[in-house]
Amino acid sequence: MDTIALLQDKRIILAVTGSIAVYKAVDLASKLTQAGALVDVIMTDAAQRFVSPLTFQAVTGRPVYTDLWKADNSGGLPTHIAHVGLGEDADLMVVAPITANTIAKLAHGFSDDLLSVTAIAVRCPILIAPAMDGGMYEHPATQENLEILSMRGVFRIEPEVGRFASGLIGRGRFPDTQTLIGHIRYTIGVSGDLAGHKIVVTAGGTREALDPVRYITNRSSGKQGYAIAQAAIDAGAEVTLITSAENLPDPIGVQVVHVDSADSMRDAVLEYTQDATALVMAAAVADYKPADVSNQKIKKSDDDLSIPLARTPDILMSVKAQREKTGYPLIAVGFAAESQNLLENAEGKLQRKGLDMLLANDITADDAGFAVDMNRVIVLDNDGGTQPLELTSKANIGAYIMDRIIGLLD
Ligand code: C5P
Repeated sequence: MDTIALLQDKRIILAVTGSIAVYKAVDLASKLTQAGALVDVIMTDAAQRFVSPLTFQAVTGRPVYTDLWKADNSGGLPTHIAHVGLGEDADLMVVAPITANTIAKLAHGFSDDLLSVTAIAVRCPILIAPAMDGGMYEHPATQENLEILSMRGVFRIEPEVGRFASGLIGRGRFPDTQTLIGHIRYTIGVSGDLAGHKIVVTAGGTREALDPVRYITNRSSGKQGYAIAQAAIDAGAEVTLITSAENLPDPIGVQVVHVDSADSMRDAVLEYTQDATALVMAAAVADYKPADVSNQKIKKSDDDLSIPLARTPDILMSVKAQREKTGYPLIAVGFAAESQNLLENAEGKLQRKGLDMLLANDITADDAGFAVDMNRVIVLDNDGGTQPLELTSKANIGAYIMDRIIGLLD
């Protein structure tokens, strides 16, 4: 698990209740800790029937809190009044898994154990992840209590449909760790510097159809675009990801628009950038497409086959025309993958496409670029400045772009 800049040194209270899913919360505590968060675990009595406090202590490296009535700090309590000390400078309280019983208690303000008292004492956002068996989640009592919590601004992760430990099938399953972390990032990020701003990101190599079964594409994986979309969520933006990548999970909180060809990507980009703060074009858009798309599968014969190609639209040129007319998107960022004359070619593109910033990468480098998690780019600005960035993760490049967008807005 890599560190996550947004979670670095964030204080997260992870409260766990008596659901069998509590064993999965151990992995969540571990991954949050590895990501850089300081995780303080609170366990109810029922949770301790499933997993021991020592398990959480081992993965977080911090004391685990179980008792409302400890009157001193011998158990590692942050103050003699545990719930106040825990809540004081927390960035987020996550109750995951939360049972029907604890949902009911929080909805009605009961506060008879460390978890429920802390939930009333904290001033940070609260995120809950219900997990329960059979029809308990659908029960009107649970649903009405959840409604009360939503109205009060509590964030919720919907449980998934699937098989329970009992063998029953229904909605109530605890999501996997990556999904939970996605929601945690969304909840912590939501009030970030880009709150209220729309950011549109493109990702993936476009697919240009030849016939009903074949297409021309390129080696772009979409990873850089997805990392940029996640960085925009971390910064609090409202994010639309227009993607032709097929095998990457949707980042939590992002509106994902699936497209395939350059033409369909252009239509989506022009539609979603009409009132956007920024567009980041990380997609590897094909330059050519088959001039004609055959309705039938092209049959093989003994002869060689030539396929005439036609130009695709240059999406950023269409965006430039839109910006000249309407001013939107306010900021346009492009990428340039080059195998020769990197800076010269990139500078030409920045000017021609009317960009505020362009990130150029040398695709001949074997430690960065396609399909891997690392990237090495040189950043060009429209005032002529250039800045090489060290080899770094695609996630860090995403965060860098968001910092620069925030700077340009200032
Ligand atoms: O011209 P080139 O493809 O190298 O430019 C790269 C930049 O332009 C990228 O940001 C890419 O997403 C964008 N692009 C585009 N429409 C195309 C080709 C590339 O918007 N047809």
